[in-house]
Order: sequence, then structure tokens, then C-alpha cells
Amino acid sequence: MTSVWLDRRRTLTVDPFTPDEDFDTVVAGAGITGLATAVLLARSGQRVAVIEARTAGAGTTGNTTAKLTLLQGTVLSSLRRQYSQKTVNAYVQANREGQAWLLGFMTDNAVPFQKRDAYTFAMTDGGADQVKSELSVAKAAGLDVTETAGTELPFSTRTAIRLGDQAQFNPMDVLEALLSDFRAHGGVFVDGVRVKNVSTENRATVFTSSGHVRADRVVLATGIPILDRGLYFAKLKASQSYAAALRVPEPTQLFKGMYLSAESPGRSLRTYPAANEELLVVGGNGHQVGKEPSPKRRLDELLDWAVHHFPGSEVTHTWSGEDYRAVNLMPFFGKMPRGAGRIFFATGYNKWGMTNSIAASLAISSDILNGQLPWADTIHKRVTSPAGAAAAVALNADVAKTLSESWAKAELAKPDPGTVPAEGEGTVVRKGRKPIAVSTVDGVTCRVSAVCTHLGGLLSWNDAEKSWDCPLHGSRYSPAGEVLQGPTTKDLPLMD
Ligand SMILES: Cc1cc2nc3c(=O)[nH]c(=O)nc-3n(C[C@H](O)[C@H](O)[C@H](O)COP(=O)(O)OP(=O)(O)OC[C@H]3O[C@@H](n4cnc5c(N)ncnc54)[C@H](O)[C@@H]3O)c2cc1C
Ligand code: FES
Repeated sequence: MTSVWLDRRRTLTVDPFTPDEDFDTVVAGAGITGLATAVLLARSGQRVAVIEARTAGAGTTGNTTAKLTLLQGTVLSSLRRQYSQKTVNAYVQANREGQAWLLGFMTDNAVPFQKRDAYTFAMTDGGADQVKSELSVAKAAGLDVTETAGTELPFSTRTAIRLGDQAQFNPMDVLEALLSDFRAHGGVFVDGVRVKNVSTENRATVFTSSGHVRADRVVLATGIPILDRGLYFAKLKASQSYAAALRVPEPTQLFKGMYLSAESPGRSLRTYPAANEELLVVGGNGHQVGKEPSPKRRLDELLDWAVHHFPGSEVTHTWSGEDYRAVNLMPFFGKMPRGAGRIFFATGYNKWGMTNSIAASLAISSDILNGQLPWADTIHKRVTSPAGAAAAVALNADVAKTLSESWAKAELAKPDPGTVPAEGEGTVVRKGRKPIAVSTVDGVTCRVSAVCTHLGGLLSWNDAEKSWDCPLHGSRYSPAGEVLQGPTTKDLPLMD
């Protein structure tokens, strides 16, 4: 599957990786967090390298729906249930500054974007209550949100709230503009090189798949952090959600706003002015990574829903992306514990990374350059609520249960007599006591270890993305065992 954003000719210039080079800062990961941080540091005169394991945008940023909005479904009321209004206000301020910076960047660099109103809508009584709470918390945080009687959507809604003057864009336009700004300020951009580890004895040494480099500081902008210091993998829930672009029979009659349902399964809608036509973009139907028996069924449900409400529409692209929600709902950013003050990280945007990533980049670069941001201090000093602590305990109990259940299932897996799954399918079999992940994709059958190289989770087959996914902390691998998404940094061993 390829997103409508990544379906383009690659125009990025990359630099060679030179082992033993020395930098002020090395940034791992070329999604929106990594590239925005790199631009801010390079503009200040630092010598910066971005090291990307795959290609720019290959992670979540190239697989998003790219709404740049302060009305974020029902996020503010969920935060308010755990934190003081002051902390919620700091979150809004962080997002406001992230949004303003990105709008300014797009304007200065002639990156197209569309101003749009954002809506949260409800289709049920329960959803209507959630929307009401969101309205009241958003107003208390100073957002000019209003209740609206109806929407432009082709189905009925119980209620909706609206925030005017938000924006949407193509995330790959933004990444390309960030990269060209970064390189214009002397930045070095390397792709196809994976950061494996960082040591912090006597400055920082960054160990990669192609050798090591040194730096004063390292920023982990890898989605979920790839280092286990701080145990952030145990404080984040990894979820996979789906999106599609559709060609509709009457594009001129498409709605204008950006919409998100309050209820699950989530339903997200926006439009995209592609080169020659206005496309409909829908998203939603997320689930915890590696825990859905058939991700393809989730995608199909979303497509059926879209075609039902927009009859005659034709799917042009389908894709999915992985994002992380902190158990206490607040994004994490700043210095990593036990990183000797040299390792920074950002994660846990809860599907609102377009604004939160820039806020995190502003906070990290300000920290590195000795600046101060009051909202960042407030967020750092927040007290974890009892609900947040309980959610962390529940998440880790669930991880332990998943681990033991999946290993019990592996014990029952069939012995491998040379299994060859049907095209597009994968299964776990046993060779002695060893679980083996066997799949057939594009006519090629691969056998790899079915044990996640992070902390030993048993992998499950993703029939939508054709990948092996870990239900514990969300690592994902290609059929041939190459890492697609962290926290792991090690490929799966081949079993042939
Ligand atoms: C379907 C979907 C829809 C969404 N819609 C919205 C929306 O409308 N609005 C919004 O605000 N947010 C949205 N989000 C969330 C948003 O897209 C993400 O939060 C954001 O893109 C995360 O950016 P990032 O830079 O932190 O991570 P990523 O984009 O994942 O970047 C991380 C990069 O690090 C690289 N990497 C990983 N490990 C290593 C390593 N060891 N060494 C080197 N590089 C490495 C990866 O290859 C990747 O390129 C959505 C998310 C999904 C899944
Ligand atoms: S991602 Fe942690 S065990 Fe697989």
C-alpha cells in the first residue's frame, strides 16, 4: 500500500554517510519531528546530521492525513480528566505555537496548504456527550470553538463543534521543503542508514548500520524511541490506523471542512487538491499494532463505509500508519533519562503529530540552545494523575498477558513440513520448539524467526501491509525480516 502523499517522484538530495565524522547534533529519523528539529538547529549555526533508516517520510509522516488543527477530536476533554486546566492550557499553547511555526514555514517556502474549518462530530448520544465536554474544555483553554447545527457531510450527525481557520496540507511537500532548508543551512542528510545505539561516555557516539559518528548531542526522532533508557516503550500504546484517497463522481460537491468523529471506530475526513482533481481522504478504524487478526478487514470496513456514503467513488490509494499514545495522554519530549543530558527524544503524539511534533522540536531546540518556553516547563512539571499511573499498570499487565498467550499459541503451532502460504498470507509454524514466520508475497516465500528482536514478543501477520507485527510494543518487519518500525533496531534472523 502507498499513501497518496508518498506516491510521487523522489526529488530529495542525499549525502553519503562518512564514518567518524563529528557533528554538534545528530538527529535520528527524517519524519516531521526530526526534520523540523534539524532545521531549527542548523539555522542557529550548528553542524547537524540527520540519519534516516529508510527514506524521509517512510514512517508515520508519509502515512498521515495531515490536518493541522487545534481542535483534535476529543483530546482536550480527555486531558482535562487527568490534568489541571493550567496543564491543558499549556498543551494548547504548545500546539498553537507548533501550528503557527508550520504555517509560517509553509508560507515562507511556498508550500501549498488550504485553510479549513475543523469539526468534531458525534453520531450517537454517547458521542454527543463527549463533544459537549470537548466544547467546554476547549472554550476554557481559549479556543473559539462553537456548536454547529449541521455539517456538510452526506450522513446525519447528532451534533458537531467547529473551530475556524485551521489548515491541511500534503506532508511530503512539507518534508521536502524542510530538507531543502536544512541542506541550505549546511545540514547533512543521510538515508538508508539505521541508528543502532548511542553511548554517552565522553560526548555521544552514534552507532549505525554503516559505522559510527560522534556528536555533542543526539535527538531521537524515530517515532517510538529506539533506546530502552527511560522505558518509554512501556509507557506508549502503538496503534495502526488506515486511510484511503478516493475519486468521487462530483468533486465540486465535496465538503470543505476537516472532520473527525468523537466515537470509535474513528472516522476522519478531509479533501486533497491533487494535481488535476479534488480527492476525498478518509481515515480511521485503528487498533493496537499486532493485535488485530485481520488488519485487511479493518481497511475494507473503512473503504465500504466511504463508498457507502460517497456512492460511485473509486479508491485511488490505501495506506496505514503507526502512531503512539502515551498512557498518561501527554506527549513526551525533552532530555531522555539516563542520557547524560546528551540524548533528547519526542514521542506519544496520539495521532496529533502535525502540531505536537513542531512543538516538541521547538522545545528540544530551545533546550539545546539554552532558551526557555514556559508551556514546555508546565508540561514537564505536570504531575502524573492516578488515572495515568493506573493506565501504565494496565498496559503492562496486558503486555505480559499477550506475551504468555502468544507463546502458548506458538507451542500449538503446526510443525513446519515446508509450509508455503498462499499469496499475500503469512503463518507461524514450528521447527522443533522454534517459532518460524513464513509468508508468501509477490511469489516469494520467506522464512524468518517469529520472535521480535526487541524483547521477544511473538509476531503476527498483517494481511493489509504484508508485514510481521509485534503486539507488545509495535515493532514491525518486512516479510524478509527487515525492520520497518521500532522500537527494535535489529532485523529478524532468516530461518532458511
Ligand atoms: C493514519 C494516521 C493519520 C494521522 N493524521 C494526523 C492528522 O491529521 N493530524 C495530525 O496532527 N497528526 C496525524 N497523525 C499523527 C502524525 O502523522 C504523527 O504523529 C507524526 O507524523 C509523527 O512524526 P514523527 O516524525 O515523530 O515520526 P515518523 O514520521 O514516523 O518519523 C520517524 C522516522 O524515524 C525513522 N527511524 C526509525 N528508527 C530509526 C533508526 N533506528 N535510525 C534512523 N531512523 C529511524 C523512520 O524510518 C521514520 O522516517 C496521523 C497518524 C496516522 C497513523
Ligand atoms: S516491540 Fe517490544 S517485544 Fe516486540
